[in-house]
Amino acid sequence: MIVSGKEVAAKNLEKIAEQTKEFEKKYLRTPTLAVIIVGEDPASQTYVRNKINGCKQVGFNSLSYEYPDGTAQDEIIAKIKQLADDSSVDGILVQLPLPKGYDEEKILANIPDSKDVDGFNASNIGALCLNRPLTVSCTPLGVMKILEYIGADLRGKNAVVLGRSNTVGKPMAMLLLNADCSVTVCHSKTVNIADYTKNADILIAAVGRPRFVTADMVKEGAIVIDVGINRVDGKLCGDVDFEGVEPKASYITPVPGGVGPMTISMLLYNTLASAVARENER
Ligand code: GUN
Repeated sequence: MIVSGKEVAAKNLEKIAEQTKEFEKKYLRTPTLAVIIVGEDPASQTYVRNKINGCKQVGFNSLSYEYPDGTAQDEIIAKIKQLADDSSVDGILVQLPLPKGYDEEKILANIPDSKDVDGFNASNIGALCLNRPLTVSCTPLGVMKILEYIGADLRGKNAVVLGRSNTVGKPMAMLLLNADCSVTVCHSKTVNIADYTKNADILIAAVGRPRFVTADMVKEGAIVIDVGINRVDGKLCGDVDFEGVEPKASYITPVPGGVGPMTISMLLYNTLASAVARENER
C-alpha cells in the first residue's frame, strides 16, 4: 500500500487552520513564523517557499529573511536576537544546511527554546531522549504521524533507522524507542547494512543516497518510510528504490508526496503549539 503523506498532511493543515481561527479569537493575534535562509541553494529555496506557502494555507503570518552567501554571521545572529525579543514572533527557523563557513551550532544557539519550532536545540533533543518531549523535529514527528495514520503496531517491533543526523536519524530513533520499538541505527560506517535492514519490521531511510535501499535489503511485509529527497537528472527520488521495494512492503511512502509534506505540516503544528505555550506563559 502506498501511503500518501500529501493526503495526511492536507488533513493536518485543515485541523491547524481551524485551531488557528480559535487561537485568533482567544488571543487576538495571529501565530507568526520567521524563516531565515542564507545563500542560494535551490533545494533550500524550494523548501522555504513551501514553508511560507504552508503558513498562508493555515492562516499564519510569515516573515522571511533572505541573506546572500557571505553575509556576516553576526548580522544573522543579530536578526535572530531581534526576532527572539519580538513578542509577536512564535517560531524562528533557520533553513539548513547553511553555506560553508557558517557556524551552525553558534547561530542556532540564539533561538530561544520557546521559539525553536524545528526542535533542534539541545534542550528539546534532551527532553525527547528523556521521553518528556517538548518540541520534536518536524521530519521525524511527521514519520510518527504517518505510522499512526496507518495504524502501525510499534510495540516490540524491530525498527531500523538508516542515518544518524541530528535533524532526522537521532530524533527518529528516540521517537521509535519511546514508542517501544527495538531500534537499530545504521550509518555510513555500518558494516553489512543489509544484515540489519532484512530484520526490520519498520525501515526508515534517511541517508541522502538515491535509491540506496533495494528490494533484497527489505523484509517481506515491512513498513518502509522514505525520508530522502534526492535529485537525479533533474528528477526527485528518495533513498529507496521505490519500484523494486514497493511489491515487498506492506506500506511504503513515495517521493515526492510522502514524508516531505508531513514535515511542513509538523512545522506548522509546532509553531501553533509554541504560540499557545507562549500565551499560557504570559
Ligand atoms: N533542512 C532540511 N530539513 C530541514 C528542517 O526540517 N528544518 C530546517 N531548518 N532546515 C532543514
